[in-house]
Amino acid sequence: MSFVISHRGANKEAPENTLSAFRKSLALGVDGFENDVHLTKDGRLVVCHDETLERTSNGKGRICDHSFEALRRLDFGSWFAPEFTGEKIPSLEEFFALCANLKIINVELKRAPDGSTAAAPATVQMAKAFGLFDRLIVSSFDMTMLLACTDCDPATRTAYLYNDLELPLVKELHASMKDFAVKYHLAALHPFFGALTAEYIAEAHAAGLMVNPWTVNQHHALELLRDWGADGVITDQPALAMEVARTA
Ligand code: G3P
Ligand code: CA
Repeated sequence: MSFVISHRGANKEAPENTLSAFRKSLALGVDGFENDVHLTKDGRLVVCHDETLERTSNGKGRICDHSFEALRRLDFGSWFAPEFTGEKIPSLEEFFALCANLKIINVELKRAPDGSTAAAPATVQMAKAFGLFDRLIVSSFDMTMLLACTDCDPATRTAYLYNDLELPLVKELHASMKDFAVKYHLAALHPFFGALTAEYIAEAHAAGLMVNPWTVNQHHALELLRDWGADGVITDQPALAMEVARTA
């Protein structure tokens, strides 16, 4: 396993998807970060998992209905623990500023409520401005986001993210991984880890695809995926995953 990728930062030690969570993750020595990105009403890219504000802040409503400045006045920390009171929603620029020494940067683009793919080229261009483009992997459950990235620059590494094996796109993937990779210009698969086997990973590799499963938190699953040749794991337990990854 080459890459241990912390899911939303060190989300057990600090509020998920905040600069505190990413800094704690860096201190652990991870290979990469995974985050979740949305577009604000005024076209800024911000890091947050949910489309709405209620779970992880003191705000209400959808991110896409608020300006960046309005979102920055919200508290994204006290829901997790009092010492994080006042933690702000990170801009993608602030997130990228922490990534200089990482081997892999996984930006997950969430589906925009209005179907806009504007976040895709903006992410690609920003990664280039930060000198991170060659280490970037953009993932999404929304294939139109991924295609908008490779439309912007065909060299963008994109990863199809999936869980539901009954989705037509997933059935298309399983009919031929090679054809799917070529048709959608993919560099990687980001499957939910539960359905994987050694053969599945080998088939993806034969199709030229990296495999970075999520969200892998248990020792046994980490060991299996390492032994089956998964390229990376997206995990809520980065310290454990690093221990397993380093002991073959
Ligand atoms: O990128 C892997 C994983 O984060 C996808 O699911 O809901 O945690 O964004 P979710
Ligand atoms: Ca995610």
